[in-house]
Amino acid sequence: MGRVVSSKDASLSSVEHVLWARDLAKELLADVLPRRWAHSQGVGLKAESIANLLGEDAVTVACAAWLHDIGYSPGLVRSGSHALDGARYLRDVAHADDVICRLVAHHSYAVVEAGRRGLAEELENEFPAVDGLLADAMVFCDMTTSPDGVPMDVEKRLQEIAERYEPGSIVADSIAEVGPRIVHSVRVITGMPGFRAG
Ligand SMILES: [Fe+2]
Repeated sequence: MGRVVSSKDASLSSVEHVLWARDLAKELLADVLPRRWAHSQGVGLKAESIANLLGEDAVTVACAAWLHDIGYSPGLVRSGSHALDGARYLRDVAHADDVICRLVAHHSYAVVEAGRRGLAEELENEFPAVDGLLADAMVFCDMTTSPDGVPMDVEKRLQEIAERYEPGSIVADSIAEVGPRIVHSVRVITGMPGFRAG
């Protein structure tokens, strides 16, 4: 895959790179992890729905949103961090755009959980974080979409994750730590002029 192109079209569903990302995520998740695929579809479509806020970065964010959880695909599981495994696959196998790899590596503050697994340095060295609007957009798309792919308030989503994992587990502790940052990122997006709840 070459450089990501931008699109002025509000509908990204037919843009070549977005179709590539959707099809790759489907191939890696749909049969083996159908619920994760349902979630990924919700996240991908949500990213497409905020294209108007992201200008020339809209295609990049949409691709990363469709692909953000591919690291859960059984064939990709290696390190203990699904974000790192997904980003490495995109870099080494799919030859995806650098920014897409970095957004997947860091989606929803994945570095915090990676740190608790002793993987923060690897993750940050291989994939420097993309700060600002693109990172906030990734958080918004992921953390306002339920595990089944339907829209969900960020507070309910944080609660849902906390309840799904054992108290004191790495995921539960990580989500408690990054909760305020996640809420802030969501508010950045929903507070933008031009944001339309969908
Ligand atoms: Fe996700």
